[in-house]
Amino acid sequence: MDNNKIPPLSSFTSKKTIAPKRAVDHFSMKQGQKESIISTNDDAASCKLSAVDKGYYIDDFVKHFVKVPIKRPPLINRGFFSRVEAIEQFIKQFFTSYSQERKQIVSLGCGFDTLYFRLKKRGDTQNLVFFEVDYEEVVKNKIKIIKAQKELYQMIDQEWSQKLSGDYSSNVKINSPYYRLGCIDLKSLETFEIFDQLGIDYNLPTLFLSECVLIYIPTECGNNTIHWASSKFTESLFITYEQIKPSDEFGQMMLKNIEIKGCPLLSIQSFPEIKDQKKRYLDKGWNRVDVLDMRDVYNYFIDKNRIKETERLEIFDEFEEWDLIQTHYCYVLAIKSSQHLNDFNFENTKPLNSNNNNNNSINNKFIS
Ligand SMILES: C[S@@+](CC[C@H](N)C(=O)[O-])C[C@H]1O[C@@H](n2cnc3c(N)ncnc32)[C@H](O)[C@@H]1O
Repeated sequence: MDNNKIPPLSSFTSKKTIAPKRAVDHFSMKQGQKESIISTNDDAASCKLSAVDKGYYIDDFVKHFVKVPIKRPPLINRGFFSRVEAIEQFIKQFFTSYSQERKQIVSLGCGFDTLYFRLKKRGDTQNLVFFEVDYEEVVKNKIKIIKAQKELYQMIDQEWSQKLSGDYSSNVKINSPYYRLGCIDLKSLETFEIFDQLGIDYNLPTLFLSECVLIYIPTECGNNTIHWASSKFTESLFITYEQIKPSDEFGQMMLKNIEIKGCPLLSIQSFPEIKDQKKRYLDKGWNRVDVLDMRDVYNYFIDKNRIKETERLEIFDEFEEWDLIQTHYCYVLAIKSSQHLNDFNFENTKPLNSNNNNNNSINNKFIS
């Protein structure tokens, strides 16, 4: 599920809607659930293309991953801009902190995300190995698209085309020097073997990305992933973007809406609030954990010049809906580091005296 799926404000003020209190954690999925989860990737790519086409940010590659472009409303475009821009800022800091070292990015549940291609085009992939993993179905489709577009396959290394025509039965689909793509089921016990097969180096600084992924898998499996990442790597960062606050009126409607689509948010009840998200990562071995909801990310973390540029693009008057949606998503930044623990300015970009819980003040925050 992505934030384009939230119904209009009017529809969740109805008192008739009562969502199930608890999502059930289970390892076996219901019929069609996997397909529904996989389809969230198509939604994400489509929304990103809409934001790109409107000029919110540059991505020359996302168009290849969307069959039928759909124009999205400003609320969605702005939300995706904020989500992508935050990742850009985290990566910039990661590159600055580890500028001299060889390093790795691992995108868990990568979907059709184009980050590797964007970094490559900007010349930012020197000293970097980029790993992407997702369900086999998604990975196979991603390869098909890459293979069909010269612009994409040229950005993967020389030997790649030979490797691709090789062993289709393996979970390793692309194993080039700088870009590695493999199949995973994050719910499976053998999950992490794929990283050995892809040749990950546990001693290199490594940044993990999990955007709207762990929320779809049972709490215990997500915990295993979070713990594996903190325990196996010497220097690492784990960035998660996902839904929070399932219990208020909007949150209940959000859950119901997603359940109807067949891909329930399996871990949201275990980590409903920012403090629970924080505790999850601290309990699993991370040294420092910062969490901001997306309203704070937009208001305080995203570069002010970028906000100025993009707020000129479209007329925007859905402040109340914006506020509601953005407070139901968060970014988690978990850090394990001996030298760079305090490099990352995330939570402390928010002024101490800000009173963001006051809904009446939202309109003031959008004066640009
Ligand atoms: C909402 S999409 C997000 C895709 C990408 N991270 C992005 O931000 O554009 C969620 C992705 O997580 C993947 N995913 C969900 N559960 C997974 C699992 N158990 N194992 C591997 N991938 C999974 C889906 O296949 C899908 O590609």
